[in-house]
Amino acid sequence: MDLNSLSAIAKYIVSEGKGILAADESNPTCGKRFDSIGVDSTEDNRRDYRELLFRSEGIKGNIGGVILFDETIRQISPDGTTLVDIINSQGALPGIKVDKGLIPIGESEESLTQGLEGLDERLKEYYELGAKFTKWRAVINIGEDMPSSEAISANMEALADYAKIVQKNNMVPMVEPEVLMDGNHSIDACYEATSSCLKSLFSNLVDKGVDIEGTILKPNMVTSGSNASIKADIEEVAQKTVECLMANVPESLPGITFLSGGQSDLDATAHLDAMNKIGGFNWKLSFSYGRALQQPALKAWMGKTENASLAQKALSHRALMNKLASEGKWDISLES
Ligand code: 13P
Repeated sequence: MDLNSLSAIAKYIVSEGKGILAADESNPTCGKRFDSIGVDSTEDNRRDYRELLFRSEGIKGNIGGVILFDETIRQISPDGTTLVDIINSQGALPGIKVDKGLIPIGESEESLTQGLEGLDERLKEYYELGAKFTKWRAVINIGEDMPSSEAISANMEALADYAKIVQKNNMVPMVEPEVLMDGNHSIDACYEATSSCLKSLFSNLVDKGVDIEGTILKPNMVTSGSNASIKADIEEVAQKTVECLMANVPESLPGITFLSGGQSDLDATAHLDAMNKIGGFNWKLSFSYGRALQQPALKAWMGKTENASLAQKALSHRALMNKLASEGKWDISLES
């Protein structure tokens, strides 16, 4: 594999329908996931679970990158192999979440992502540990008087500052402006908010001289709010998401890998497939799912070693289904 430039790395991650496994849950978030299956979130349990995921057969050929949390990029399996080496041996590239979470903006419900301070030094270490790409997540809310233009500009500017520092350290920045599904808003409100974020994001990236060809975008899909009384169907989500991206994302961007954001695993696959069946765009349209890839595996595992191969089968299946969806070749009949 040719990984001699940022653009080659970005293209490799999304080549041939491949997508990304987001396994970068912070320890508190991992704790919540483990609570749902009654497993203690200890360092060893987190390592065992992630090792099991990364060794799954279905990583090969379907997953081009895996996003890790700081703890995981340093972990070593009981047989002495680093988790980073396991990922590499599956033909996937290790990535690392580098933001430091959210702080509220003033008294408001809106937030600004932290982590620029000391980022350059941290990146140097992650590069040495084998990271080829990085992730930074900004969170935008929809609600009364939200999103504010201040929250959008501050977050999109920070994303661009982050991306510039990452490229200087020879890694591909994944920029994630997540408009949350939380709320009872319409799909049109989500379209508006997503469009404003993407416009501001790309204008900041270009202004700061970020190489777009060496960048990956991780956006939300354009959907109705999770508590909306009228929910847009698969076709409408696909149409409006593609329309919003075509209006705001430069053609030179190599890949767009969606977050799942609380969608069910089947919805996340069906939406991606419907978009790729519409087609007409230059970028690869693929996935960077956390919950939508891991949920069935987590439920099959239940913290028991004897369930490991069932859990791996569940992850492998979802990875393959999403790879097919990235090529517009998925069908619901493949799920049974
Ligand atoms: P979900 O797919 O579960 O939304 O997670 C993706 C992610 O990395 C969020 O930052």
